[in-house]
Amino acid sequence: MLWGTALLTGLVGLYVIVTQCPATCQLSQEDTETLMELHNSYRGQVVPSATYMRKVKWDEKLKILAEGYAVKCMWEPNPDLELLNMGENLFVSNEPLDLNMTMEKWFLEHLDYDYNNNSCQEDRMCGHYTQMVWADSHSVGCAAHRCDTIEGLSFEKVNFLVCNYYPKDKFKDEKPYEEGEWCSKCPDNVPQCDQNLCGKNSAPINHTTPPPPSSLHLIHSTLSLLCQTSSSPT
Ligand SMILES: *[C@@H]1O[C@H](CO)[C@@H](O)[C@H](O)[C@H]1NC(C)=O
Ligand SMILES: *[C@@H]1O[C@H](CO)[C@@H](O)[C@H](O)[C@H]1NC(C)=O
Ligand SMILES: *[C@@H]1O[C@H](CO)[C@@H](O)[C@H](O)[C@H]1NC(C)=O
Repeated sequence: MLWGTALLTGLVGLYVIVTQCPATCQLSQEDTETLMELHNSYRGQVVPSATYMRKVKWDEKLKILAEGYAVKCMWEPNPDLELLNMGENLFVSNEPLDLNMTMEKWFLEHLDYDYNNNSCQEDRMCGHYTQMVWADSHSVGCAAHRCDTIEGLSFEKVNFLVCNYYPKDKFKDEKPYEEGEWCSKCPDNVPQCDQNLCGKNSAPINHTTPPPPSSLHLIHSTLSLLCQTSSSPT
């Protein structure tokens, strides 16, 4: 009955995890949508305006990476991301995660950021903002975890949010985006301007695709039917 015991222990373990995990422990589908909407909404509001700002989409691989890091409960950058050219924003709270408030906090760092000389006020943080509005970053994946303790901070029982981005920002070397008229430099692969962001065409027109045979056949039969009909009064 060793197997049964192991199974039972496993189930109890799972139960403990599930019950100790509040709703904020994992991100729901709705949370995912909120995160995407907020990222894109803030990206489309930068001052000065951007000639090219990619619309971001949710990425499951980045989410899985974020999950793997969130469970480690460490308040420091994930060292594995550097080589992968992935960026990261972290947030920790001893209250239930409020994603709208969190995204607003990251965005509000723009108040300490100066676009003209691409610099942050001394002793302030701007890195969450610059990653959030990095023009080229097109994929985001986030995860949340409830941490009893978190390495590097003295708080206990915190909710930890990890967002990963691809590609990573290079804030120290470059401005997050180029200033100018919204969408004036959307590249060919993302030509469509939607709420100030460059995105893919929702319905790409494929000029090289001939109509499928079935509709050709339908046109032919309709035509022949019409011909037959018009020539019927004989
Ligand atoms: C949070 O943001 C989402 C996405 O913009 C929005 O739909 C929702 O109403 C906001 N929720 C609150 C409580 O402000
Ligand atoms: C950037 O410009 C602002 C506003 O003019 C100024 O306060 C700040 O000291 C400048 N920072 C650097 C690093 O030059
Ligand atoms: C466009 O149609 C051609 C011919 O059918 C096909 O080879 C090509 O993959 C299509 N391109 C896209 C983007 O769907």
